[in-house]
Amino acid sequence: MRDCSFSLASATITALIGPNGAGKTTVFNLISGFIAPTSGLIHFKDERIDGLAPYRIFRRGLIRTFQVPRQFRSMSVIENLMIVPSDQAGENFWSAWLMPSRIAAQEEANFRKAQELLDFVRLSHLRDEPAGNLSGGQKKLLELARTLLADPDMIMLDEPGAGINPTLMRQLMENVETLRRERGISFLLVEHNMDLVTESCDRAIVMNEGRVLADGAPADVIARPEVLEAYLGGRRARG
Ligand SMILES: Nc1ncnc2c1ncn2[C@@H]1O[C@H](COP(=O)(O)OP(=O)(O)OP(=O)(O)O)[C@@H](O)[C@H]1O
Ligand SMILES: [Mg+2]
Repeated sequence: MRDCSFSLASATITALIGPNGAGKTTVFNLISGFIAPTSGLIHFKDERIDGLAPYRIFRRGLIRTFQVPRQFRSMSVIENLMIVPSDQAGENFWSAWLMPSRIAAQEEANFRKAQELLDFVRLSHLRDEPAGNLSGGQKKLLELARTLLADPDMIMLDEPGAGINPTLMRQLMENVETLRRERGISFLLVEHNMDLVTESCDRAIVMNEGRVLADGAPADVIARPEVLEAYLGGRRARG
């Protein structure tokens, strides 16, 4: 990875695009702490985060999803949204002994929040299904809902559209737009569908061979000769 530099404003939706193997997932892994950069700096909310462990970056409000969603398959959909964050009362043995009513109140609040999130992503009708039974698209919606439990400032979605039907994808992007507008969350998403990028994103950053090739308004960027060439080159190489 070289010449790979960009900054994102808050409350924006940016697409990270480029041919297969361009380095998009690697950028996600670097930003979210899953791999440490050998050189270069990463800042989030004016503080350096390069080299921090993933959970520290997560706690600062920067959350990522995976190209293949990771649900707890045997747990129900709602249970997937009720995994207790670590700073809550129920975690601590002494607080459980001393303040049972506080824990009951917390559980109740967790349940309500989980219900609200399910309503938001329109999965309430599947509340008690095992998460493993959801379709690919429904899993992505559940994954988005799970990121919201952490009250993020920025969410990175790796190929949210892969293998999901257009109706569910539209719904996912409506959710993204609502979160940007109403909660000021920033999104960075990897997406191969250029129509969707042009329709739903404020900006597109194109990567090729580990570096940033173009950066700007989606419709403008994807029409640039060097970008078309990068995609065609990739296709030729793959035969
Ligand atoms: N830690 C690493 N060190 C060196 N090379 C790596 C590392 N991680 C990934 N790569 C290589 O970097 C290249 C880019 O991979 P990456 O998964 O980031 O591509 P991508 O743009 O997400 O592609 P796709 O669209 O297929 O998901 C690949 O050739 C991969 O083998
Ligand atoms: Mg990838």
